[in-house]
Amino acid sequence: KEYFEKQESLSKKKILITAGPTYEKLDPVRFIGNYSSGKMGFALAEECAERGAEVVLIAGPVSLKTTHPNIKRIDVESAEQMYEAATNEFIDTDAAILCAAVADYRPKERANNKIKRTEGENLALELIPNKDIAASLGKVKKEGQILIGFALETNNEEQNAISKIQKKNLDFIVLNSLNDNGAGFQHDTNKIAILNKNGNRKNFGLKNKKEVAKDIIDNTLGTI
Ligand code: CTP
Ligand code: CA
Repeated sequence: KEYFEKQESLSKKKILITAGPTYEKLDPVRFIGNYSSGKMGFALAEECAERGAEVVLIAGPVSLKTTHPNIKRIDVESAEQMYEAATNEFIDTDAAILCAAVADYRPKERANNKIKRTEGENLALELIPNKDIAASLGKVKKEGQILIGFALETNNEEQNAISKIQKKNLDFIVLNSLNDNGAGFQHDTNKIAILNKNGNRKNFGLKNKKEVAKDIIDNTLGTI
């Protein structure tokens, strides 16, 4: 019975998930990136697919594989490409889970040739802002669509998280804890808290990312 319920609980639902880092090209051989492994987003995609959802997984550059037939994977590299893919797919989704560590800025110039070293000289990079995918989806979100963001804060975490919910028109934000060994980037485990738009907070213990994915889905997608 439990197996059946798990299979059916998200059937006929379309869920958009962004995962992994983005790479912002500097020249043909270099980029600005971050340490996101994509594991949390991929675990969410697997769990949603196992519950019967049609999943669109927009993945930045990661070395992870997906096998579930319910997962349609779109591989992108940059924040601009992720924005294009996410805004194209959002319209008919029931929920979007924005797990990706999107670069906030990209180099203003992208050199066609490898940037050469000049002995004894500093090199300044000018960066320009990327679009905010979460905020853009928040602007076009319709009644019934659920938007879930992620955040990792080093200070004033709850205040910052609540202001992100408001600024981006999210329904929930998943706070990643930095404080625990084994939580967050590049780890198989995570420690989270979920805040809803009324500011209510629910804390969870250190768990593997598959279990964390279950907690997130159980506590956010109950109404879709
Ligand atoms: N996000 C996004 N597009 C961006 C930046 C962030 O969709 N260009 C999403 C992330 O995937 C995450 C949420 O917004 O779900 C919060 O990301 P975060 O980096 O914490 O928020 P920022 O608004 O970028 O604020 P900060 O200055 O703290 O980085
Ligand atoms: Ca950011």
